[in-house]
Order: sequence, then C-alpha cells, then structure tokens
Amino acid sequence: MADRYLRFVGTAPGRFLTRRLGLPQPAPLHRWSPQRPALVGGLLHLTAGKTDLDLSPVLARTGLPKSADAPAAVILDATGVRDVETLAEVHAALHPVVGSVARSGRVVVLGAPLAPADHHQAAAQQALEGLVRSLGKEIGGGRTVNLVRLTDPPAAESTLRFLLSPKSAYVSGQVIVVGAGVDADTGAEVTADGDLPLAGRTALVTGGARGIGEAVAETLARDGAHVVVLDVPQAEEDARRVAERLGGSALTLDITAPDAGARIAAALPDGLDVLVHNAGITRDRRLVNMPAERWSSVLDVNLASVLRTTDALLDAGTLRRGGRILATASIAGLAGNAGQTNYGASKAGVVGLVRSLAPRALAEHGVTVNAVAPGFIETRMTAAIPLFIREAGRRMNSLAQGGLPADVAETTAWLAHPASGAVNGQVVRVCGQSLLGA
Ligand SMILES: NC(=O)c1ccc[n+]([C@@H]2O[C@H](COP(=O)([O-])OP(=O)(O)OC[C@H]3O[C@@H](n4cnc5c(N)ncnc54)[C@H](O)[C@@H]3O)[C@@H](O)[C@H]2O)c1
Repeated sequence: MADRYLRFVGTAPGRFLTRRLGLPQPAPLHRWSPQRPALVGGLLHLTAGKTDLDLSPVLARTGLPKSADAPAAVILDATGVRDVETLAEVHAALHPVVGSVARSGRVVVLGAPLAPADHHQAAAQQALEGLVRSLGKEIGGGRTVNLVRLTDPPAAESTLRFLLSPKSAYVSGQVIVVGAGVDADTGAEVTADGDLPLAGRTALVTGGARGIGEAVAETLARDGAHVVVLDVPQAEEDARRVAERLGGSALTLDITAPDAGARIAAALPDGLDVLVHNAGITRDRRLVNMPAERWSSVLDVNLASVLRTTDALLDAGTLRRGGRILATASIAGLAGNAGQTNYGASKAGVVGLVRSLAPRALAEHGVTVNAVAPGFIETRMTAAIPLFIREAGRRMNSLAQGGLPADVAETTAWLAHPASGAVNGQVVRVCGQSLLGA
C-alpha cells in the first residue's frame, strides 16, 4: 500500500531523475496531526470587485497571522465580481502572489451565489469555477485551490476553517455552496471553536470495522463523539476492536436486512446525531458479462440500504434535530468507470438521494444531508488493484498521489460539525482533483 514513488521523488536523485523524465512530482502533504494542527505561515486576504462581506472576525479565528510573505493561505473575496471587467481584478489580485504561496498552502476563492436573472453576473461568477479548477491543476507543491459560494461569513466559518487547515490536504478543485438563514436548530450559529465539537453527540458509522469507515470512526471519536461501529456479523471481531479502542460500541448487522433501520433505532433509544453511510462493496464486471446478482448486491448495499435506513431513522425520529446524514458517493458515480456500471449507478444514485432529500430533511427534521465522493484512496480495496492500473489511478490527479482514509474522515468530520448546518445538499469530492469527472 505504501507509495514508494512519492518517497523516491522526495530524495535528491529521485527528484533529479523524475524531473528529467517529465514524470509526476507529488509533494508530501501536510495533513492534520496533534503535533502539526495548523498550516505553517500567514494568511493573505485579497478582494476583487466591490464586496459587502465582513470576513475579518471569521478569518481572525482561523489563528493564522496576517502576512503577505510566502502566505500559507490566500483568501480572495470575489463575491463582488459581476462582469468580465471586474473578473480582471481576480487576475490582478492573484497574479502577483500565486507564485509565492507556501508548499501545502491553500488558495480559497469566495464567490457569490449564481444569479440566474443576471447573465453577466452568472457568467463572471461561473468563470471563477474554471479559474479555480485550472489553477488547482497548475499550482503544484501540495497546494490546493477551492471555491466557496457564500453570503453569510459566520455560516461559512466551519467550512473556511476546514479549507484553511491541514485537514483538507486532499480536497482540491471543489466548489462548495454554503447557505444562509439556516434554521437555528441546525446549529449554523454554533461557533466552530473547541477541540471536542462533537462532545455529547452520538455518531453511527456503517462499515466502520476497517478502511475508510474505521478512519471516520476514529476522527469522529477524536472530535468527542460516542461512536457506534456498525458492520456485518463476519466482521464482529474487528468492529469490537475498533469500538473498544475508541470508547464506543459495536453493532453487528447486515445493513441490507429489511429491518436494519428498526434494529439501529432500537439500539439507539436516546437518538442519533451523525449517521455516516460508509458501507460499500464492488462487484466489477463489464455490463455484457454481469449477472443480475452482481448488479443487485451492489445496488442493495450501496444505495437501497442507504435509502431504507435513512427513511427509517428519520421516520422513527431517531435522528435528532441538528443531526447530520453523510452518504458516500465516489468519483466512479460522477465520471463513470469501465467495469463498474453497477457501482457507478449506485454511487450516482447516492448523489441523487442527497440532492433531493437535503432541503426537505432540513425543513422537516432540522437535519443536513451531504455526500463525500472519494477518489483514489489507499485502502485494501485499492491495494487489490493490479500494479499498473493502481499506479495510474494514484497519479491521475492534481496532487499526483492517492488520498488516505483520514482525508475522507476529516471531510466527514467537517460536514458533521455542529457549526456546519448551512452546508446542505453538497457532494464534496476528496480526490486530489482527480482528472476523472467534472
Ligand atoms: N477506497 C477507495 O478508493 C474508495 C473510493 C471511492 C469510494 N469509496 C467508498 O468508500 C466506502 C468505504 O470504502 P473502503 O475502501 O473503506 O471499503 P472496505 O471494503 O475496506 O470497507 C467496507 C466496510 O463495509 C462493510 N460492509 C460491506 N457490506 C456491508 C453490509 N451489507 N452491512 C454492513 N457493513 C458492510 C465491510 O464489512 C467493510 O468493513 C465505500 O462506500 C466505498 O464504495 C472507496
């Protein structure tokens, strides 16, 4: 599973040779750890166009000092960009500084919601997406570039803090829309401070016995949640081991069982705050060779059980107000992948579920619904891919390396955060800006 190429490029002869051969240049990413919890360097705040946003209090709470020299983070408020002329101010602001952003640094562009009635504003604001995605592909050095559309800085605080931290190391080229005027129950007004934002909350992670699910369970426990690790009876030993280590509990059942939702509700009489639908399987085969059983088993685990348990837990009132539903999509569901018509369909279905349910779940239950869409993540699932295909999968993204389960887990923890109530109906890719898909 180790990425030997990444290590080789980190040595002097490796760097020399791979540069001469024009090979990818992955940089070691600065990920969150208790020893290195923040970006190293200052924050440079720029604007383009006339803006009404007051970002100062939110940016002050990131803990990053103001600095123009080799900033670790550049934040460009482009919410006031309304036409092609003011778009030129985006170029004028970024052009002189983009070459000096520290390695593993961040560029975050802030955009306004698209105004469909004003095609000049819509064109200029949509242009920001092309700029951000293109800059993400050329900036290199483990730096990331993302766009956040917002109207209310306090509602976007948890999102900005995530993007301006090492926790978002593998999230690049994304467009995240943060709403405003959110129901107070959902917690948009909760400040993003504190080391244990999920203290007193219960989280359930399906497929939590290993891989990405285990990392999600660990990260939610780090943030203070009581975690229930759900997995199939065959994985009981692993589920118990993970739960014990995290001071949580294990629940073994097959998520495709018709009564799975009822059994989860019965096991959580005091309710649930964070539901992470992570369990997933692949049964790859080209459609021409795919028997019905391979189709139905993948659709059942990855999509139908997500629909059933979500409905059951919302109907039973198990998910408390202010709750979070996180589903797991995949870039295969966004871009498609040969040999994965079943998997791609199931993961695209997850996107449909999230987009449709999000506004209703918020209005009726005070619960947000979002998805993470992992790209190539270093797990047992991807370790089983033949060497050359695996190597291509790893490198085909702007960061030229695979992600780690922790990258998906940190993204999940941001969306699960009590202060993330204004983030709803989003599908956030954790893919190092994979070349696959939009
Ligand atoms: N690894 C990647 O690169 C990648 C990329 C995109 C999406 N994903 C998605 O992320 C999720 C986790 O992937 P992973 O790589 O950690 O997989 P994994 O195979 O390592 O772990 C999946 C876990 O889900 C459990 N599970 C499977 N069927 C279940 C069922 N019916 N009921 C309860 N538990 C069940 C398994 O026992 C296992 O513990 C999946 O939804 C997967 O599709 C992974």
